[in-house]
Amino acid sequence: MIKEGALVLGIESSCDETSASLVEGGRRVLSCVIASQMEEHRIYGGVVPEIASRRHVEAIVPVVGEAMGGRDFKELDGIAVTQGPGLVGALLVGLAYAKALSWATGLPFVGVNHIEGHIYANFLGREDLEPPFLCLTVSGGHTDFTVIKAHGSYERLGRTRDDAAGEAFDKVARSLGLPYPGGPNLEKLAALGDPDAVRFAKISVRDNPLDVSFSGIKTAAVRMAAKAADDKERADIAAAFQKSVVDTLAERAKEALRMTGLKKLAVSGGVASNKALRARMKGLCGRTSTELIIPEAVYCTDNAAMIASAGYFRLRSGASSPLDANADPSWKVI
Ligand code: KG4
Ligand code: ZN
Repeated sequence: MIKEGALVLGIESSCDETSASLVEGGRRVLSCVIASQMEEHRIYGGVVPEIASRRHVEAIVPVVGEAMGGRDFKELDGIAVTQGPGLVGALLVGLAYAKALSWATGLPFVGVNHIEGHIYANFLGREDLEPPFLCLTVSGGHTDFTVIKAHGSYERLGRTRDDAAGEAFDKVARSLGLPYPGGPNLEKLAALGDPDAVRFAKISVRDNPLDVSFSGIKTAAVRMAAKAADDKERADIAAAFQKSVVDTLAERAKEALRMTGLKKLAVSGGVASNKALRARMKGLCGRTSTELIIPEAVYCTDNAAMIASAGYFRLRSGASSPLDANADPSWKVI
């Protein structure tokens, strides 16, 4: 088990960002270096796995070196690395590096679930945050409402039945002619449009009031985009689509807070960097006397600080991974 306040090196390479970070006590970020490959994938309209793996191989040593900032590996107490879910070839680069470093230094290492990492982004810079709290994780692959009952103990209350919010943002953005990555570009276009100029059907899902479904409005938006006559119409579609996603997530969050009686709401994952979503959640929490926790935008999208944080709490509980640990591209922790 590592000591209280231990220094952990986090490594993330599950998709198109190579990142390394030093985090103390799971909460204090000393460094966080992120090398993005976005530009290289842009011409293909999405992440090309083979290119991603190659770029991770090139970037991993300099990125870790920069994050260490002249420190010796002997100053570390542990190593945390994303083990899944993600692209297998990409995951293997970070994992192989972490295992080699663990073997060479004798430091304990732990494989971290990427989604658990997104949840732990909420602890960064927050000395006071303790479970239980409700967490909405909205990324390219997930839209989950989860109760964080204690460290490492989760209960999922709701999720998407089809597309994740980020995935729907990306597909609609593409149909509007926006470059990869779609989400942030759709947000920019939405700022120019009128969200009330276009109407989407209200999203409701049977059996669980906390589940969501985005495939219906995504398909409707893609169809409208194909017929859009000009930039004004495209901006209106973007604004209305974003509003529909934000409204739906806020309604579910309100219901989840009511059902659980929890007074702390955390929101993280790539889509949590969306300003309209952040503003809506702030309004909701203000009205319901709920504490809102949203990481800085840089810690919402993929980064290694969140992996170091999740790894710290795992290592602190006495867990660690063996040197034959393998990447798990579809690992579900919740
Ligand atoms: O967490 P993340 O970086 O990677 C995954 O684990 O998926 O999330 C990426 C997703 C993408 O779908 C991206 O389009 C979306 O988050 N995203 C956004 C924004 N920034 C990133 N969606 C809406 N508005 C944004 N500002
Ligand atoms: Zn992610």
